[in-house]
Amino acid sequence: MDKTLAIKTNNLTKVYRSFFGRKKVLALNKLNIEIKVGEIFGLLGPNGSGKTTTMKLLLGLIFPTEGNAFLLGKATNDIKTKSRIGFLPEESCFYRFLNADETLDFYGQLFNIPKKERKVRADSLIKLVGLEFARKRPLRQYSKGMLRRIGIAQALINDPDLIILDEPTSGLDPIGTKETKDIISELKKQGKTVLLCSHLLSDVQDICDRIAILDKGTLQVSGTIDNLLSHKDLVEMQLRNLSDETVEELKSFITERDGEIVSIRHPSNTLENLFLKIVQERRKSTDSVTHSQ
Ligand SMILES: Nc1ncnc2c1ncn2[C@@H]1O[C@H](COP(=O)(O)OP(=O)(O)OP(=O)(O)O)[C@@H](O)[C@H]1O
Ligand SMILES: [Mg+2]
Repeated sequence: MDKTLAIKTNNLTKVYRSFFGRKKVLALNKLNIEIKVGEIFGLLGPNGSGKTTTMKLLLGLIFPTEGNAFLLGKATNDIKTKSRIGFLPEESCFYRFLNADETLDFYGQLFNIPKKERKVRADSLIKLVGLEFARKRPLRQYSKGMLRRIGIAQALINDPDLIILDEPTSGLDPIGTKETKDIISELKKQGKTVLLCSHLLSDVQDICDRIAILDKGTLQVSGTIDNLLSHKDLVEMQLRNLSDETVEELKSFITERDGEIVSIRHPSNTLENLFLKIVQERRKSTDSVTHSQ
């Protein structure tokens, strides 16, 4: 297999059979995708379109009805490769009586990471996902967003080369979402490959290099965000310090040359940026924040 590919699927197909083998569901239909080493790839699609099924097939948690897949150059049933993969499932199942430290230590032991190293990794991951304030609380006391955060830390405990995240931002507040996007971008900077699925399209647009859209188990489109989204026939400029007069002059200049002015407007901030600005400024000004999560 090509060394530049982290994931490759060949006609990957999954038919679920219900009890007694009577009713069949074609969850994934001949999927062919290639994900390059070092890229962030987003799998999109409506509910039930086959995203989680794809991830489970890649991880070898379920078996394909037809076709096959390769991860880091190896077949999906290769045991050695598993230690190079991190996975955040759609719904994490933790031992609820363990706290964050104990949970990460437990997963670290599963990967045979030495005790000292486990402690170092747990410390830095707890910091990374912003759970220092609650690290000694049992997970049964965690909110949905806090469980998602510890799930992300768990997925990274083995310092994986390939990280598969099933809806990493679900249940997170806008700050948690932003932090998670930053973590994912940082992983890319470290040369890691990330496959994620999310229903939050703007998040996907912010961080993914390439995406694929599934519907009813069938690949509809795939490509780079830029190629899929850019309007090649339009040009956008953002200009500062122009008087109304100059704007008028520019307009006539363009129309004289047969250009069409589609829109002229003042760009607005995104709601996400506004939210982050307000909350972060408030947090900065109040030193002793009591977390209410
Ligand atoms: N264990 C199963 N047995 C039978 N059918 C299943 C099973 N798991 C999933 N399916 C079916 O396979 C299809 C794809 O499901 P999948 O969970 O992969 O979708 P998804 O894209 O992850 O959806 P969501 O966005 O809701 O998480 C659905 O029709 C679902 O009902
Ligand atoms: Mg799913």
